[in-house]
Amino acid sequence: MNMVMRSDLDQWWRNAVIYQVYPRSFNDTNGDGLGDLAGIIEKIDYLHELGVDAIWISPFYPSPQADAGYDVADYFDINPEYGSLDEARELISRAHAVGMKVIIDVVPNHSSDQHEWFQEALRAGHDSPERARYIFRHSVGEPPNNWGSMFGGPAWSKVEPLTGREEDRDWWYLHLFAPEQPDFDWNNADVHQLFTDYLRFWCDLGVDGFRVDVAHGLVKADGLPDDLRGSDRWVDGDRDPDVFDSGPMFDQDGVHEIYREWRNVLNEYGRDRMLVAEAWVDPPSRGALYVREEEMSQAFNFDYLKCGWRPARLRTIIDQTLREMNNVGAPVTWVLSNHDVVRHTSRFGFDPEHSTEAGIGLGDPQPDRELGLRRGLAMTLFTFGLPGSVYIYQGEELGLPEVTDMPDDARQDPTWLRTGYQVRGRDGCRVPLPWKANPADTGFGAHPWLPQPADWHEFAAERQEDDPQSVLNFYRAMTARRRHYDLGHGDFEWVAYDNNEVLVVRNGKITLALNMTSEPAVIPGQYSIVIASGTCDHVSGGVELAANTAAWLS
Ligand code: GLC
Repeated sequence: MNMVMRSDLDQWWRNAVIYQVYPRSFNDTNGDGLGDLAGIIEKIDYLHELGVDAIWISPFYPSPQADAGYDVADYFDINPEYGSLDEARELISRAHAVGMKVIIDVVPNHSSDQHEWFQEALRAGHDSPERARYIFRHSVGEPPNNWGSMFGGPAWSKVEPLTGREEDRDWWYLHLFAPEQPDFDWNNADVHQLFTDYLRFWCDLGVDGFRVDVAHGLVKADGLPDDLRGSDRWVDGDRDPDVFDSGPMFDQDGVHEIYREWRNVLNEYGRDRMLVAEAWVDPPSRGALYVREEEMSQAFNFDYLKCGWRPARLRTIIDQTLREMNNVGAPVTWVLSNHDVVRHTSRFGFDPEHSTEAGIGLGDPQPDRELGLRRGLAMTLFTFGLPGSVYIYQGEELGLPEVTDMPDDARQDPTWLRTGYQVRGRDGCRVPLPWKANPADTGFGAHPWLPQPADWHEFAAERQEDDPQSVLNFYRAMTARRRHYDLGHGDFEWVAYDNNEVLVVRNGKITLALNMTSEPAVIPGQYSIVIASGTCDHVSGGVELAANTAAWLS
């Protein structure tokens, strides 16, 4: 299939390798157990050497951290625990100096309850212009509808009445996430203005793009009707990894107006400023609507992320996503991990039908670490060979597994508390990165904000630096060869193979092979081996790939 290109060649993200920095856990330069902006600046060369074209930085704004920074108290500043606006400027200019772009995380569905607007709204009382910026409703007894929070429990919290007067009682506000994250009302003009101001502010500072948090959630169905799926996503079925967000709070058509408005703002700065959608929507044709030319530039390919080690489904998803994105002229993104899901090196260590949606903790079935890593690297190599843009989640270049034995009392994800300790949540993929090989301090001082397992220093970047066999050097080789063969701009064509569980693809001069079986597989032909994730040898008539292994052949 030939990729349809949009006319504008400024679209650097089309083939970019984009690295997600989760600032709290990336690199700590003052030993307080939290990452900081100085820590990101310190690692610009590391990222450049890794072959990264852009970094996406998860929220770094002032925040009470009820949801690790996705509860923003001020959209125009930096969390003092992380640094300052001057450091943000320096970070951007240092990244630009090595040719790396910077994407930041915009959180437009909700603010923190400590945002001055929400505090004003509470003080102003019902039917005030201040309350009109959020979703306040009156209801006696029960909440205004049956919606459940994504983190468990109801999506409504009751407002303390300002006075003893009848009309002040029985008011509620909506929060699709934690109670500390009240949802904005996107019918309100002030809210539009806040975010167009925000986009201009950060574009003026030099950022190249925005990752749009909960991009499918901003507009709710008129009249806020009940959710027919029921009110508890953890009990009512969303645990099925193949089912995405639906219901009256998600993927409403009106949301697209907002992104057209934003695209126009970004165009004031040029077509090279990008937007990437976090939109967990079904089917892929709905996802494609977010990346029409007059809206966003990319959307995370969550179908691919969720697919797991399932060859037939993987083929279908690859075909579908290439087709749907091609239809609207947008590039495909390939994503395996992020800060919301169990790391793929651990997901692949389970039977493919085993769900890891609720996180993993003490007492749960544990992944096969060795198998997970082998499959994880194979899938990563295959992924990096596909045309389009690739995302790396920090730490995967060190081969980090999910932390699956974190003490429950160390957990910070609001999901754990709000589900009455049923759903462990996402802390296991957010543990601070190990930079140094010192078991007593891998770089986050004696008290990292989430505890590191005892063997964490064995994954330290410092230890992997000069080891030619390390995962870190494998990642470096992969990005360098991907660039050398221009695979990101390439083509895609399936190559027939007599076992459906061996995926073979031609991208330009390179043949990608992924052996998803538990037996060796021979790829027939005269090839040289460009890179392999495991054992891969010339045999008579072809190249033999070990079980759970991928290779690029030329
Ligand atoms: C997105 C973020 C997630 C956060 C949620 C609420 O899904 O990726 O980490 O908890 O939005 O902002």
